[in-house]
Amino acid sequence: MSGRLAVVGLGPGDVRWLTPQADAALAAADALFGYGPYLDRAPVRNGQRRHPSDNRQEAPRARAALETAAAGSNVALVSGGDPGVFAMAATVCEQIESGPAAWRGLDVEIVPGVTAMLAVAARVGAPLGHDFCALSLSDNLKPWPVIERRLDAAAQAGFVIALYNPISQARPWQLTAALERLRRYLPATTPTVFGRAVGRADETVAVTTLQAADPAGADMATLVIVGSAETRLVPRLGHAPLVYTPRSASA
Ligand SMILES: C[S@@+](CC[C@H](N)C(=O)[O-])C[C@H]1O[C@@H](n2cnc3c(N)ncnc32)[C@H](O)[C@@H]1O
Repeated sequence: MSGRLAVVGLGPGDVRWLTPQADAALAAADALFGYGPYLDRAPVRNGQRRHPSDNRQEAPRARAALETAAAGSNVALVSGGDPGVFAMAATVCEQIESGPAAWRGLDVEIVPGVTAMLAVAARVGAPLGHDFCALSLSDNLKPWPVIERRLDAAAQAGFVIALYNPISQARPWQLTAALERLRRYLPATTPTVFGRAVGRADETVAVTTLQAADPAGADMATLVIVGSAETRLVPRLGHAPLVYTPRSASA
């Protein structure tokens, strides 16, 4: 089969976080697919067809990209951040698993990108300097009790926790519930970071405590990092404190 599909991570927003490999994959494509606002971040090049689609159209978008690649095109399917983190690479794998046998013969490449939790962490210091985990608070594809169980386990195990998809118009209460849950296990003073639209013109980053964390400060472009009991602030002169998690942990 002559076509190919690259699932390309664009990073969280800043063009300097687009890797040379991702840029080359975009340049080589003759058809680009993606959620409209993400596709808008890919440079416009002559001769390329662009196929924007709506949010939450992941499966049809992946199928359309696979069909186009199977017909012989060089396709780039773009994803915000890293395509393997709560994003299009898994959707493509799902569709290949359940789709026509011919899709298993396609040349598929996953091109990694900077995921949001790394960009947010870098803005404040090194909160992910020791063991951490990432959880999506979206209960669209998993039941809320599963999320509660994972939050409990992560907090009790001492992981720093990065919360993706914390809130949306359709999911207004989940972040409140998650923070209440984490307050059962973690000190009130646990550093908590809200990074919104990091790397974009409207970026905001706020450092607070778990007790004071206010879900009203988050939207669907926000990533929340809740520290572990070891995460701390280093005050500095003339600069914001550094938020970090030491590399060592006590027993
Ligand atoms: C569907 S997930 C996609 C994650 C993406 N694949 C990644 O690796 O960052 C969308 C969530 O990622 C986070 N996110 C994406 N871009 C962000 C940014 N620039 N700043 C802060 N959080 C971001 C938010 O939590 C948002 O709700």
